[in-house]
Amino acid sequence: MAKSKKTSKKGSKKASPQKALDDQTVRDIIDRIKESQKQAEENQSAHAKARKASSAKKTEEPSKKVKALMKDDPEGPPEEPTGEEEVEIEEGDTELEGFEDIELDVPEDAVPKEMEVAAVVEREQEFAPLPEHEKSHKTEVLDSYTFLSESIPVEITIVRKEEFVPVYSISIPGIAGGTKLLLETKLRAELISDVKLDITEILDPKKQEMVKAKFEDSAMKVLGRNFPQLPNDKKKILASYLIQNTLGMGEIETPLHDEFLEEVVVNNSRDPVWVYHKKYGWCKTNLRMKNEERIYDYAALVARKVGRQINILSPLLDAHLPNGDRVNATLFPVSNYGNTMTIRKFSRNPWTMTNLIRSKTISPEVAATIWLCVQSELSLIVAGGTGSGKTSFLNALAGLIPASQRIISIEDTRELTLPSFLHWVPMVTREPNPEGKGEVSMLNLMVNALRQRPDRIIVGEIRRQKEAEVLFEAMHTGHSVYATLHADNATQAISRLVNPPLNVPEENLDALSGIVVQYRQRRLNMRRTLEFAEVQDMGKLNMIYRWDAKRDVTIKVGKLDKIAKTIELYTGLSSKEIDQDVKEKVTILNWMVKHGYEAVNEVGSIVSNYYQEPKEVLSAVSKNKKWEF
Ligand SMILES: Nc1ncnc2c1ncn2[C@@H]1O[C@H](COP(=O)(O)OP(=O)(O)O)[C@@H](O)[C@H]1O
Ligand SMILES: [Mg+2]
Repeated sequence: MAKSKKTSKKGSKKASPQKALDDQTVRDIIDRIKESQKQAEENQSAHAKARKASSAKKTEEPSKKVKALMKDDPEGPPEEPTGEEEVEIEEGDTELEGFEDIELDVPEDAVPKEMEVAAVVEREQEFAPLPEHEKSHKTEVLDSYTFLSESIPVEITIVRKEEFVPVYSISIPGIAGGTKLLLETKLRAELISDVKLDITEILDPKKQEMVKAKFEDSAMKVLGRNFPQLPNDKKKILASYLIQNTLGMGEIETPLHDEFLEEVVVNNSRDPVWVYHKKYGWCKTNLRMKNEERIYDYAALVARKVGRQINILSPLLDAHLPNGDRVNATLFPVSNYGNTMTIRKFSRNPWTMTNLIRSKTISPEVAATIWLCVQSELSLIVAGGTGSGKTSFLNALAGLIPASQRIISIEDTRELTLPSFLHWVPMVTREPNPEGKGEVSMLNLMVNALRQRPDRIIVGEIRRQKEAEVLFEAMHTGHSVYATLHADNATQAISRLVNPPLNVPEENLDALSGIVVQYRQRRLNMRRTLEFAEVQDMGKLNMIYRWDAKRDVTIKVGKLDKIAKTIELYTGLSSKEIDQDVKEKVTILNWMVKHGYEAVNEVGSIVSNYYQEPKEVLSAVSKNKKWEF
């Protein structure tokens, strides 16, 4: 964890005389630009005051306040202290352990042209910490941590103020103010003119990696040429910064690299960017988009990356980026308050059964029972509400499939990540192009999957009748199938399956063995496996486990019946042996949790070893030994 060193703005670092762009110079330039910035709605001070005023007095809408301030006096009421409204170039007033600020010796001729500086000022405004939360006395620091955004060290502080939601505050302390300025102007311009790529290459989604590599290479050269003395590791940090600002979504890229965030959303250019934090839920950030065009630019950039368009005629975009992130964008006036972007981050740490046990989502016993079902090739459905963790559970469950079996997964957007050594073919649907051509539907893929000789079929979510038909058809033809379904409990899941629009005939339900229900308690942001029920003939349910909300424990409320009979039929295990097997799996799971084996490949590897050489795994478990991967 980094420790924050609070330094006052005025007593900032001593700038050495040879630095043409020391903080004072920067401020002077900004002052001049500020004078020339006539447009009232672009004046940051009005926003700053509006924010301050709205936090002091919560009776008025901030937007109204902003408008009123802009109208009356773009500089704001004179009695307000002026120092705070100054657009501050970030000074790196916090430091990360092990990272020193990179300050470049800037040659005289590198002083950027005013226009360029204006652009930088705009960017800095987006990134400037909201003044009030630095000043508020009632600020409680909830958390602070650091991570690398590509190579750039970033520091996050999450503070609770007198507002309804915490503030997620980003700072990049490693790069000094003058350096940032130079990167975003002169060096960025050099980089763009250096990289010899034709526009079709830059826009080709398949060439993204190549384009990025070329930019990285050129960025290092540009930095080397300008600053021959700069050590390589520091050059890398600056190169990442340059590239994020040239090819990517600028400042938005920073939160996208935070493992703790699930979602990064832009609602318009008036309000701050919001993030959904795994621990703290929705937080406001200290980022704000400069204007509506900036949001549109980023949305258009995303669209180009996936070979699509977003414009007035088609103002909605739902894109699935090559890195797995999913971006939704909407344009004003369809979204009334302005252009929006909703970025759902692809989980780079896929969920495993041990994750779920450690986070108390599921009890080891329920997990072991489900594991036995997966091992025994029984078909299961994962039900739950939106964001309850259905897909995550599906991922954990799929990680228990033996490596000797062929898996085909079908999703609308790629969310699943299975152990790398599994025999797995992930497939995703495709939307039609603007001319309505080229669609590959979930149904197309499901029908096609049956021709790919799969042992197991995983389906992201069942929504339509045809999909449900094919799914049950697949179960009946001897495949084990796993899918998610939107339903709050097992009873509702059955009812959704047999009623319109899915209309699965009741007699077909016998191919399904069980339903796992995931539940998310929104108030505490807690997730639990609510139920595990066995599906008997004609869709009758036999509830085996149910979560008791009051005591936060899972209770065994029934006994495996049809599942036990099916397992006995195929493996010869008696009911008693099945119980023993579940107990054995409980000990393995507990041992994995204890040793912290939570990564998808770790869990997958132990599970596969257990299928092949159970004694080896069981001996390590009984001796409580570490596993040699
Ligand atoms: N057991 C859990 N504990 C905490 N967070 C979880 C858990 N399961 C899922 N999540 C998180 O919740 C979010 C939504 O999960 P997801 O599986 O996509 O839900 P669904 O498929 O039901 O919409 C994801 O960001 C995921 O990382
Ligand atoms: Mg899902």
